[in-house]
Amino acid sequence: MADQAQNTADPKKPAATKPDDDVVGKVYDSRLMGRLVKYLGPYKLQVGTSLAAIILNSTTAVAGPFLVKAAVDTYLAPIGTLSWLGRHLSRNPSTGITEIGALYLGALSLTFFLEFVQTYIMQWTGQKIMFDLRSQIFRHIQSMHIAFFDRTPVGRLVTRVTSDVDALNEMFTSGVLAIFEDIFTLAWIVGIMLWMSWPLALLALSVIPAILYATKRFRDHVRDSYRRQRAATAKINSFTQEYVSGMSVVQLFNREARAFKDFSAVNHENKLAWTDAIFAYALYYPVVELLSSIAIALVIWRGGIAVLHASPALAALATQHPLTHPVVTIGILIAFIQYAQRFFRPIQDLSDKYNILQSAMAAAERIFKLLDTPAEIVSPSLPKKGNGTGSIEFRNVWFTYQQLSEEDAFFAAQTTFDPTLQPNPNIEWILRGVSFTIHPDETAAIVGHTGAGKTTITALMMRFYDVQAGQVLVDGVDVREQDLISLRRRFGVVLQDPFLFSGTIAQNIRLGSDWITDQEVENAAEEVNVADFIQTLPSAFAEPVLERGSTLSTGQKQLISFARALAHRPGILILDEATSSVDTDTELRVRIALERMITGRTSVLIAHRLSTVQTADTILVMHKGLLREQGTHQELLAERGLYYKLYQLQYKDQELGAASQAVPA
Ligand SMILES: Nc1ncnc2c1ncn2[C@@H]1O[C@H](COP(=O)(O)OP(=O)(O)O)[C@@H](O)[C@H]1O
Ligand SMILES: [Mg+2]
Repeated sequence: MADQAQNTADPKKPAATKPDDDVVGKVYDSRLMGRLVKYLGPYKLQVGTSLAAIILNSTTAVAGPFLVKAAVDTYLAPIGTLSWLGRHLSRNPSTGITEIGALYLGALSLTFFLEFVQTYIMQWTGQKIMFDLRSQIFRHIQSMHIAFFDRTPVGRLVTRVTSDVDALNEMFTSGVLAIFEDIFTLAWIVGIMLWMSWPLALLALSVIPAILYATKRFRDHVRDSYRRQRAATAKINSFTQEYVSGMSVVQLFNREARAFKDFSAVNHENKLAWTDAIFAYALYYPVVELLSSIAIALVIWRGGIAVLHASPALAALATQHPLTHPVVTIGILIAFIQYAQRFFRPIQDLSDKYNILQSAMAAAERIFKLLDTPAEIVSPSLPKKGNGTGSIEFRNVWFTYQQLSEEDAFFAAQTTFDPTLQPNPNIEWILRGVSFTIHPDETAAIVGHTGAGKTTITALMMRFYDVQAGQVLVDGVDVREQDLISLRRRFGVVLQDPFLFSGTIAQNIRLGSDWITDQEVENAAEEVNVADFIQTLPSAFAEPVLERGSTLSTGQKQLISFARALAHRPGILILDEATSSVDTDTELRVRIALERMITGRTSVLIAHRLSTVQTADTILVMHKGLLREQGTHQELLAERGLYYKLYQLQYKDQELGAASQAVPA
């Protein structure tokens, strides 16, 4: 508890837990974009094809009104002079109209085909990239040191792998390239309109400033509510996760109403953020619609008047000199109305793309931040091999879970060696100058009160954390000089709170080590006396383990993890209060197995019940981070120190237990 209070008081600590789910990213950040584009690297061909399809598509997509204009001006309401396209068409109106119809159909078919190509390839590539990215993130998470997970909420890592990657996917598939499509389409439409009749074009485009203004207002509003949505979603996720995992505690303490109230508050925030966004959407789209209607109305009005005043002579002049003598024909008028309708769609789309880009940038920022967080515990570049004897040695080990500043760490190292220096009161040492040796094949027991640092000692042996001062040697070599994988392969561990994965019982015993045969799995289970129980399950060893083994008792899970440790034939065995949840009867049976397990290998036992440690070769007595006593059971009793006191306490307990059992009889 004290340690937790310290954590929050420590200004260096919370940096990692700062909520980064609600940062407002830039829309475009060239540094991030440059890094993202690298992921496209392996898919150059696909991206190139998509891009070509997009450019071509935006061209064919604007061909429709152009063809309609040619049909009207050449055949339906001939203006006397032929346009560029008109000159290439048949003189016979019926044939010419058919030709235009065929061209129209051709353009549409091409659009259809290109759209298919582009959508399919882009989505396909997007999924590939997401696959690569997710793999990279997951691999990186796995490589992180345990201290990182002590500080990082699970929900946040889940968000990185899921929704943040999705946001990037959306950008890759429907965002970035579609922006090109929108821009190309806009450029084409504006170009054609200006070319057909620039005064009418300028008139139609005169509503654009109003649209840009509306778009900006909309964007700002939506951006804010998106940011709130993201923050609220992250909160809902972590809240649900925490309360679902702790449901039995919630129900036991009748906290449902309270928990629901808290949840409702978060849920409400989320709803508000969404309704705000929906309001903005509901308003923005009709506004753009209205403005584009105004543009069309202007075109019909001014264009209509121009058509009325147009004469064949003017039209002839206009065809030769469209810039100096703009004229509006019926064909142009029809084409303009169609273009004006199509023009505003990409603008609406672009403002959507803006949001996609923005959330993608924010997601990229967070993902890269995670990927850039270096794993602090890694194998050295030139690992040394241990002698494989299974010896363990601690040399004046000082350790704290706190993250020390460089300065603090330096002075900490000084003070730990020179006891006359005043120790830094801000550092809460978990181990203070612990030194001991466990010889090969010995069985060592660690005893001490809860929080004395027993589990910490075992964690340091496997190098889950690095010590701040001193040395931890396994197989005669400092753990920091060993290859992490081969170091950890040396250990078999059974924890107080065993962890089972989803899969079958056999898979949980084997844990992916294919070299363990079915027979060995069964033998291991047999040896720890859990095979009987497993055989009673409907599918025996193939019985699926649900949600971390929630259908098994803790004792059964402990026995299964015993079998797991045994099946891997580790050189060093660590049992951390591994039999604390099995009954005395089972413990007796396990103890026989235990005897077999600890012979021929170095073993470290942590046990509450001193009865199980009496036979150990050496007993380490921990007290508040100090190794207070070390020796065999008899030696320690003779010393009449801490161990003696602990023993007496338990002895009394046992006597009391025996007495209370005797009473009812
Ligand atoms: N991951 C951690 N981060 C911060 N403090 C921790 C962590 N694990 C343990 N501690 C603290 O270290 C101390 C020793 O813990 P531990 O080694 O688990 O004790 P034991 O196993 O003897 O009961 C306790 O005060 C505990 O609060
Ligand atoms: Mg412990």
